[in-house]
Amino acid sequence: MSHSAEPRPMTSRRCGPLTGEALVPGDKSISHRALILGAMAVGETRITGLLEGQDVLDTARAMAAFGAQVTQNGPGDWSVHGVGVGGFRSPEGVIDCGNSGTGVRLIMGAMATTPITATFTGDASLSRRPMARVTDPLAQFGARITTREGGRLPITIEGAQDPVPVTYRTPVASAQIKSAILLAGLNVPGDTVVIESEATRDHSERMLAGFGAEVTTETTPEAHRITLKGRPELRPQPVAVPRDPSSAAFPVAAALIVPGSEIRVPGVSRNPTRDGLYVTLQEMGADITFENTREEGGEPVADLVVRYGPLKGVSVPADRAASMIDEFPILSVIASFAEGATVMNGVSELRVKESDRIDAMARGLEANGVTVEETPDSMTVHGMAHVPGGGRAVTHLDHRIAMSFLILGLATENPVTIDDAGPITTSFPDFVPLMTRLGGDLS
Ligand code: S3P
Repeated sequence: MSHSAEPRPMTSRRCGPLTGEALVPGDKSISHRALILGAMAVGETRITGLLEGQDVLDTARAMAAFGAQVTQNGPGDWSVHGVGVGGFRSPEGVIDCGNSGTGVRLIMGAMATTPITATFTGDASLSRRPMARVTDPLAQFGARITTREGGRLPITIEGAQDPVPVTYRTPVASAQIKSAILLAGLNVPGDTVVIESEATRDHSERMLAGFGAEVTTETTPEAHRITLKGRPELRPQPVAVPRDPSSAAFPVAAALIVPGSEIRVPGVSRNPTRDGLYVTLQEMGADITFENTREEGGEPVADLVVRYGPLKGVSVPADRAASMIDEFPILSVIASFAEGATVMNGVSELRVKESDRIDAMARGLEANGVTVEETPDSMTVHGMAHVPGGGRAVTHLDHRIAMSFLILGLATENPVTIDDAGPITTSFPDFVPLMTRLGGDLS
């Protein structure tokens, strides 16, 4: 649903040590995929630990509009009675994906090879984001696609009558492009192949295999080649969604920058394709330990124990960007408190997220006394012993920008204000109460 409420400003203030347990919500990427694959399987898929953020609720509503029966049994506990591969019906109304790039791109993929028609829209942020990266490969399957100027939403897709298999090399490292193509490939006779030069999050591949599809990944020094055999019968699966490492990053960051803190974050996904922030933080000297490493729902999971301590700036290599693409805003906050400069390389994709995240972080950090340099695809943050704060950050309908600046204010000399906390509900509805329970001062 498009975010249309009045802006809700919020302020965070310097606080004492953060302590306790942070139960962060279910993984957003896995939650979207569980609903979509559940809708494409025949029978009941039971999902536990589903993120009940607005982005995922919008995907649940979309799956119902395409004919699946989606019901909530209790908090985080959902059932999807799917219609099978190729079983989607034309929705009666427009599909509003709200703020969610993952939602709209994956759902467009899932329906593009079924002979039905659907129109997609979204909020002001989503309507600015590039969609040709997905509609171009979907057109190769035989779908007929009409977009607003510049390949933007609203978009109408007439799904292919006789879809043909596609082999596609992704022009940018993007799990959303890869996943849209693989989901489209489900209703196509023959093999669909995606070639990516950097590995991106592999939740779609893991979950497709879990639902019984034949999907293989070949890795060479140059590329990852993912092959999906079309027209499988997807078998419904119980999906236990692990906690989201991208959401965990916010309390983790707070514990690293607020003196004396020690927190525990249980059950967080440690999927290696999502692990870049944690690798980087360890290089910066962060005191993070991983306990009870185990497997849950086909994903590696661990309990994180995080303690405050001195940090030093590092250079983050470009080939790590895909594995921490959503974590650069919060890394730039942590880097503000490190000794020396932190350089983030190969991050041009940040410019087409829910906002231009390089610009949003640079302007907001500058307003709070931090020196930042940017190029089209890099950002450098100069750390300081005492970050002044006292500024206002503009969040541009971007949940991660909003949460990053609220975390900043917990450790700055003066309070930090954001213009709008509303978008936080897209991925982390419990963020403010959770941070408050740990000892944070947000109001
Ligand atoms: C996601 C992929 C990433 C990420 C987004 C979730 C996914 O986007 O930023 O939050 O679930 O596939 P890109 O594929 O555009 O990099």
